[in-house]
Amino acid sequence: MLESTKRGIVPSARSDVPPFMVMDVMAAAARLEAAGIHVVHMEVGQPAAPAPATALAAARAALGGPLAYTEALGIPSLRARIARHYGERHGVDLDPARVIVTTGSSAGFMLAFLTLFAPGDRVAIANPGYPPYRHILTALGCEPVLIETTAATRWALTGEALIAAHRERPLAGVLVASPANPTGTMITGEALAALIAAAEDAGIRFISDEIYHGLDYAFPAATAAQVSARAVIINSFSKYFCMTGWRIGWMVAPESLVRPIERLQQNFAISVPTLSQIAAEAAFAGRAEMEAIKHGYEDNRRILVEGLPKAGLDKFLPADGAFYLYADVSRFTADSQDFAQRMLAEAHVAATSGIDFDPLHGRSFIRFCYAGSRADAEAAVERIGRWLGGR
Ligand SMILES: Cc1ncc(COP(=O)(O)O)c(C=O)c1O
Repeated sequence: MLESTKRGIVPSARSDVPPFMVMDVMAAAARLEAAGIHVVHMEVGQPAAPAPATALAAARAALGGPLAYTEALGIPSLRARIARHYGERHGVDLDPARVIVTTGSSAGFMLAFLTLFAPGDRVAIANPGYPPYRHILTALGCEPVLIETTAATRWALTGEALIAAHRERPLAGVLVASPANPTGTMITGEALAALIAAAEDAGIRFISDEIYHGLDYAFPAATAAQVSARAVIINSFSKYFCMTGWRIGWMVAPESLVRPIERLQQNFAISVPTLSQIAAEAAFAGRAEMEAIKHGYEDNRRILVEGLPKAGLDKFLPADGAFYLYADVSRFTADSQDFAQRMLAEAHVAATSGIDFDPLHGRSFIRFCYAGSRADAEAAVERIGRWLGGR
């Protein structure tokens, strides 16, 4: 064998992104379960329930026919249905031509970043935040700029903080999520409008990750579409509609970006999986079923918000939406990764360390996902109480 062949292919520097640590917790939980131990799973951010029955029925029916490529921007009737959703939920008259169907919101980020930014561009994101924002930006040669959020602003990114960072060195864009992952916090409609106005006045492009819309408990989530036709909105069927594995989402883009995004999608993917598009359109008819599931999350949220302080975890961010509770564990540890590992090994409750989400203060936090059953939420509170009580 040639010496050069033995050495293998050296991966590019831009592919050198960090792993998602939650996967390590999942693997450790699986090892305990293989040994016959019952684990309460609160580590992975996904619903336990399946897609709405309407979506499943539509998918079953579609399996009988050909599943051909679709238009790159998505099946027209699905794009029209998504546009209608903005009228129904938010009173916004949205042109279906601005709706683009994507392979989950994850593909939406890539398409948005590629059409909005050039290599070297600086893009602001809130810290803590969803790790792939940073990692996709880095892989595309952009620079993620972390802006700290604190209790003083209800953990929301503000126009003042954004403009202060822009003055230091110009920003090309900003990405905001409400409800957010990992914090579960939300930004009010007024605060969102003020932030978008500040960004647009300064020429900073605005991306709104609205993937947890529909899962709002504290107050109704506002969409950037109510405020601006220039913002790029990213959304998904993964969370509210319980369709993570179907890999389907959507974007709402300003008119001038639709054709560039279409060209990228044609080349990257041709089109989004047809079966998932058909199921997604039918999912809108399953809202009553999804509302019942949302009520289950609300119950779980109440059980944790009331129960965790009694169990010893009395410091956490306002659990406004999504299905996350972000707890400060600095009273117990300086290393939340170690805390999560011990909580799993000793109390058999799996949660995620904040270090995935916050390179600065993540060692003080852990994230609980309460998208499971009521029994899971109750068992978590009971087990954590016993564990912390016995330390
Ligand atoms: C804030 C946020 N945005 C986007 C995603 C990606 O979701 P998907 O690609 O399934 O739409 C997730 C997944 O957990 C998330 O938490």
